Amino acid sequence: MRVLNFGSLNVDHVYRVPHIVRPGETLGSGSYARFPGGKGANQSVALARAGAPVWHAGMVGPESAWLRERLAADGVHTEFIRVDDEPGGHAIIQVEEASGQNSIVLFGGANQRIASEHVVRVLSAFQPGDMLLLQNEINVTAELIRRGHAVGLRVCLNPAPMAPGVLDFPLELLDLLVVNEHEGEALSGEKEPERILDALAAKYPQTRLCLTLGGDGVMFRAFQPASAHKPVDTTAAGDTFIGYFLAADLAGKTAAEALAYASEAAGLSVTRPGAMDSIPWARELA
Ligand code: RIB
Repeated sequence: MRVLNFGSLNVDHVYRVPHIVRPGETLGSGSYARFPGGKGANQSVALARAGAPVWHAGMVGPESAWLRERLAADGVHTEFIRVDDEPGGHAIIQVEEASGQNSIVLFGGANQRIASEHVVRVLSAFQPGDMLLLQNEINVTAELIRRGHAVGLRVCLNPAPMAPGVLDFPLELLDLLVVNEHEGEALSGEKEPERILDALAAKYPQTRLCLTLGGDGVMFRAFQPASAHKPVDTTAAGDTFIGYFLAADLAGKTAAEALAYASEAAGLSVTRPGAMDSIPWARELA
C-alpha cells in the first residue's frame, strides 16, 4: 500500500519576534531564516521519515523548484511535482520568542493553479486501497476527494488552513478526518471537544475522526496526553502528527499506538526551529 499526498509546497520565510506583530505596529526582527515548508510537503516528509512509502504531487514555481530535490533527499517520490512558470507558494511566518507560537501569512502561488488534467494523470498511477492524503492549501482539494474516492483510494483530509469553502467539500467520502479544535468547531458548530466529535460522528458516520488539541493532547474516541516538551517553534507540529499517525496506521498499528507514536513525534518537532526541518526521524523516537 502506498500514500499519495497531493498538497502544497511552500518556501517559509521565518522571523523570530518578541511578540506577534499587532495591527498598525512595525516590529523589528533580529532573526531571519528560509525553510522548506507547506502543509502538504511537511506531511510528506513526516510520512517518509516515519518509514512510509509516499509520493508527493503538486506544483512549485521556478524559484522554488529546489523543494523537489529537498523532498527527494528525504525519500519522498517527486515525479508528480510539476514546475510552473509563475511564482510558487510562500509563507511569512512570525515565531514568538517566549512561547514558540506562530502566525502565518500565506501566498498560494502555483499551489492554486493545479489543473484537472494533472489530478487525473496522477490518480491513474495509484491502486484501490492506497491512501490519498489532502490538506486545504491547493485549489483542487474537493475534486481530489471525489475522484480519489471514485477510484477506490482511502481519502484522508486535514482541512487546514480552514476556510468556509471546506463546508462544501464532499466530507462524507472521507476515510479519515484530522482536525484541530478551530477546524472542528467550524465543521460541527460545537466548541467543546467531546461535542465536536459527537457532532462530526453523526454527520460523517463512515469517517474515522481525529481531533488534535495542541499541547493538551489528541482525541480519537480515546484520549492521548500530549508529550511534554518545551516549545521552541510549533510550526509543522500538526503536519508531523498527521504524517506519523498515517504511517503507523498503514503499518497496522492500533489507533492508540498510532496516537502515542504521532504525539511523541509532534512533541519532538516543537523543540526545533523550522517547518520541514523540525520533523524527527523514526529512529529518534522511543
Ligand atoms: O503547517 C505549517 C506550514 O503551514 C508552513 O510550513 C507554511 O508553509 C504553511 O503552509
